[in-house]
Amino acid sequence: MTELTLSNLSATSVPADAVVVGIARGESGPVPAPGPAAAAAVDEAFGGGLAAALATVGAKGDTEEITKLPTPEGLPAPLVVAVGLGEAPADGTGYAPETLRRAAGAATRALAGSEHAVLALPLADDAAVAAVTEGALLGTYTFTAFRGRGHEGTPPLARITVLDPGAADAAHAAAAERALVVAEEVARTRDLINTPANALTPADFADLVATAAPEYGVEVEVLDEEELTAGGYGGILGVGMGSASPPRLVRVAWTSPAASATLALVGKGITYDSGGLSLKPVGANETMKCDMSGAAAVFSAVLAAARLGLPVNVTGWLALAENMPSGSSLRPGDVLTTYDGTTVEVLNTDAEGRLVLADALARACEESPDAVVDVATLTGAMVLALGKRIFGVMANDDAFRTLLHETAEQAGEQSWPMPLPAELGESLKSPLADLKNVGERMGGGLTAGVFLNEFVAEGVRWAHLDIAGPAFNDGGPFGYTAKGGTGVSVRTLVRLAERAANGELSG
Ligand code: BES
Ligand code: MN
Ligand code: ZN
Repeated sequence: MTELTLSNLSATSVPADAVVVGIARGESGPVPAPGPAAAAAVDEAFGGGLAAALATVGAKGDTEEITKLPTPEGLPAPLVVAVGLGEAPADGTGYAPETLRRAAGAATRALAGSEHAVLALPLADDAAVAAVTEGALLGTYTFTAFRGRGHEGTPPLARITVLDPGAADAAHAAAAERALVVAEEVARTRDLINTPANALTPADFADLVATAAPEYGVEVEVLDEEELTAGGYGGILGVGMGSASPPRLVRVAWTSPAASATLALVGKGITYDSGGLSLKPVGANETMKCDMSGAAAVFSAVLAAARLGLPVNVTGWLALAENMPSGSSLRPGDVLTTYDGTTVEVLNTDAEGRLVLADALARACEESPDAVVDVATLTGAMVLALGKRIFGVMANDDAFRTLLHETAEQAGEQSWPMPLPAELGESLKSPLADLKNVGERMGGGLTAGVFLNEFVAEGVRWAHLDIAGPAFNDGGPFGYTAKGGTGVSVRTLVRLAERAANGELSG
């Protein structure tokens, strides 16, 4: 990961390849973003004419706009990168953390290929320091593991110095350290998602977890296909039975001696979703290596809780299987018996996520956690409902759903509360078995949520995050978000673990 340091030096005394300043959108063109003395020093080098020079080359100050100018004499960096912050905040208030996070990410992304950048962005409070450091690090992400033959691509920015008059403040140092852990864990999730399915089978994923987790004091337990059979995990086995790469259920646990609460996280880990015998059409399967995004996010969140030493227990359940068509596949019409003994008539093998989650949720509930949250690229319907940047939040408790939505907002992730209408349960009744795996199509994301609710034990608070839209960015990069796997929900889960550690989960 890119190296990041806070420095209380001025922009005139830190040699670098580029200095980044924020610009606001004014009435008639860009204006210097109010605040930082470090940026004022850059403006001075331009004889007070930085905004005018930027206007000359067409800059407006709109959010995420990047404008590069060569620097005049007097600055130890040859390049000025101006990043737009949009309208200046009202007097006496700072920029919203997410505005700063995106700006910092857009800037460091634009500086790929450079060695060292100095950031002179407005840092009104501790939250701004947290946002700038996190965004800056997230923006440096690249994935080149499968490149060669001279096409390795532009290396990420190697070093970032954030100019911060409060650099010596312990809270600022802590914010920067947290940002590093969070950015590294988001990058881990992005790497896992971007790794093609032929290089990340369920067993590969489990092996990688078993190697990485102990480094951070996280306990790992892997159930292979024989243990899954012995344990009666019919959902995971059913989905995995068509693949040459057998399924796994992985339990990871961070246990803190100071914990007074336990949070269970459950992740959908379909390493490839072809749809199975209910095969997806061309056009719907090219990015289905991303169908393990939930499991990756859960793994990263547990590691982050351990690395941050949070006084809370966090258990992660990764339900790993590959959904493939073959002579040994699950057939539409088959009946499976899930871990808790429920029989499910499988009428569409492409509704596989809910089958693996059924087992994992029921198993997670056996340990009586204070709350369970599952994360899944579960339905195309949720993508239609909320688009590519917002995930849906459902829960069996209204207050807990609100808490998740607010937690996501605190973390800088976009989510929206969705209902679990009881009447949809009717559509999941099977004449043959206890349930069928598909029901009402209208509001299909909610139907899936209602199905999952059947596997949550009585009295356990539960929330479901459907991240099918924002998990994978098949468009161009924006802000701190790269193309490909985004790592969405990692930051929400880490923030949730922090809130649980603060005793904010009880209620
Ligand atoms: N993995 C898909 C959902 C998905 C769609 C994820 C688009 C990411 C982007 C899931 O397993 C699926 O196929 N769901 C079906 C359910 C249907 C058969 C009830 C869907 O949404 O079409
Ligand atoms: Mn599917
Ligand atoms: Zn799927």
